[in-house]
Amino acid sequence: RMQTRKITTGSRNLDDLLGGGIETKTITEFFGEFGSGKTQICHQVAVNVQLPVEKGGLSTPDKVAKAVYIDTEGTFRWERIEAMSKRWGLDPDEVMSNILYIRAINSDHQMAIVDELFNIVPKENIKLVIVDSVTGHFRAEYPGRENLAARQQKLNRHLHQLSRLAEIYDVAVIITNQVMAKPDVFYGDPTQAVGGHVLYHAPGVRVQLRKSRGNKRIARIVDAPHLPEGEAVFMITDYGIAD
Ligand code: GTP
Ligand code: MG
Repeated sequence: RMQTRKITTGSRNLDDLLGGGIETKTITEFFGEFGSGKTQICHQVAVNVQLPVEKGGLSTPDKVAKAVYIDTEGTFRWERIEAMSKRWGLDPDEVMSNILYIRAINSDHQMAIVDELFNIVPKENIKLVIVDSVTGHFRAEYPGRENLAARQQKLNRHLHQLSRLAEIYDVAVIITNQVMAKPDVFYGDPTQAVGGHVLYHAPGVRVQLRKSRGNKRIARIVDAPHLPEGEAVFMITDYGIAD
């Protein structure tokens, strides 16, 4: 049996839905409308990966598990990392020093960063790579139906690289994708189509997020026969992702 390891999201409900948490060696995609919690989950998992294994992270007594955060939208906030670290009694400065933050300014830069990670990841005990969002630059740079084929080809190459990175170095990869609440408005754009997921048929987990009342959010797994059906309710709180 292949050994896979999992990182807690901070919500027991969401972890259960994911079959224990975020898996290494694979891509987990969170998609949903604005404010649905994609970026908050990314922040929380970048902290949680640093926890010891018995607490839901991937750190071992001799080595801290580090995270790479590729931010394409400028929505990363160190203050959130601080709050989410204190929650577990972790030293925020230490946690922050173990997150390699990279701002990607366009899709070529975003892809070049991932290429470079093949050199960095094995040297640094990086166990998590986040791309928030994976689709933003591609959508902005390749607008309209006439650019769709070129965009998808490039995006698929990017996703393939991320998938290889996950498998080769036993790291978890999280990507996010903003989709409209009413995807029919974007008929013709596969990244906005039914289910909203980016068109990439690699092994991976796709999680749809929806807003509920107040700070409640609802997660649902999309096309993963090996995971349980149903939905998980979680909350976005001042101290992070919780039940
Ligand atoms: P887009 O990137 O716009 O597509 O949205 P997203 O899915 O990334 O949403 P995000 O994760 O940024 O969630 C935003 C929500 O998180 C806001 O609506 C807030 O309710 C909540 N949130 C953000 N920061 C805090 C905080 O410090 N405390 C609390 N309680 N909630 C917060
Ligand atoms: Mg976001």
